[in-house]
Amino acid sequence: MNEPIARLRALRSVELRTVAFADSADFYSGIWGLRTVERDTDVAWLRGTGTQHHILQLTEAERNGLGRITFAVATPAEVDAAARRLEARGIPLLAGPGPTDTVGGGYGLRFADLEGRVIELLADTFAVPRLGGDAVPVGVTHVVLNTVDIDAAVAFYTDVLGMRVSDWSEHQMAFLRCTTDHHSIAFNKASWTSVNHVAYQMPTVDDFMRGIGRLRHHGVVPMWGPGKHGPGDNTFSYFADPGGLVCEYTNGIAQVDEDSWLCRVWRRVPELSDTWGTAGPPSKDVRTHMAGVPDLGAFEQFPELRAQIPGAVPVSEIGAAV
Ligand SMILES: [Fe+2]
Repeated sequence: MNEPIARLRALRSVELRTVAFADSADFYSGIWGLRTVERDTDVAWLRGTGTQHHILQLTEAERNGLGRITFAVATPAEVDAAARRLEARGIPLLAGPGPTDTVGGGYGLRFADLEGRVIELLADTFAVPRLGGDAVPVGVTHVVLNTVDIDAAVAFYTDVLGMRVSDWSEHQMAFLRCTTDHHSIAFNKASWTSVNHVAYQMPTVDDFMRGIGRLRHHGVVPMWGPGKHGPGDNTFSYFADPGGLVCEYTNGIAQVDEDSWLCRVWRRVPELSDTWGTAGPPSKDVRTHMAGVPDLGAFEQFPELRAQIPGAVPVSEIGAAV
């Protein structure tokens, strides 16, 4: 078996394609609590208080979707090694390896996974200092992805990217880690491929609750939450951004000791998905928002790409409605 292409150090950032660019850029830089790094007419980069140059890129688009997920690797040499390993696996590169021409700098590469999601590995980005802030996010802590083939998705992210499965929620969700955080990526079995939600880390439960309070003060109420999940043991409160994409405040994710952690399969019962009993079951509205719209990702821009990726999911399954 091939070794993973790289050792992932962190989830750096997420790019979201949004139908409501201007309003969403105002929302995330305003009451959500991020800070604008740069903003143009159709793209914006925003940061949290942590040490990533930016954690969210918003890009104007005709349909909502995932632009890309960017992971940190340690060095340009590791990016180069990842490129060689991708080539050995027959997985084509979309960009790099080399210096990036995007905001934040760095040396990276990009490729697509089995459902067309763009993955970026990036080293040597511009260093930024930590910021102060009152009840605002530190960074992006996890992304949940809807998948039409959860077993293939988990196999790809563990085999190719070296992520580890922390837990399953029956055969409906799989939680994958690349650091001590219980999960940085989770897959949710769904009818089409799309982004389910992006979660932002609040420093403390107090910040988490005061952030929810700030949003409520501005007329934005949670679609689901506040509550606390069983798998991951993290608090949650889910909101819809102006484009209808789901964003989450969270805090206190379980820390995994690689030497002793035992992966378990959680039952999907109310007392385990909402351990405080404060949130109740998710509404049809939040489920609809989390389902999003079918997203072909890179397979839309590069139709020939899918046939080049070993084991790629048929386009008809990724998004029959597209
Ligand atoms: Fe989440």
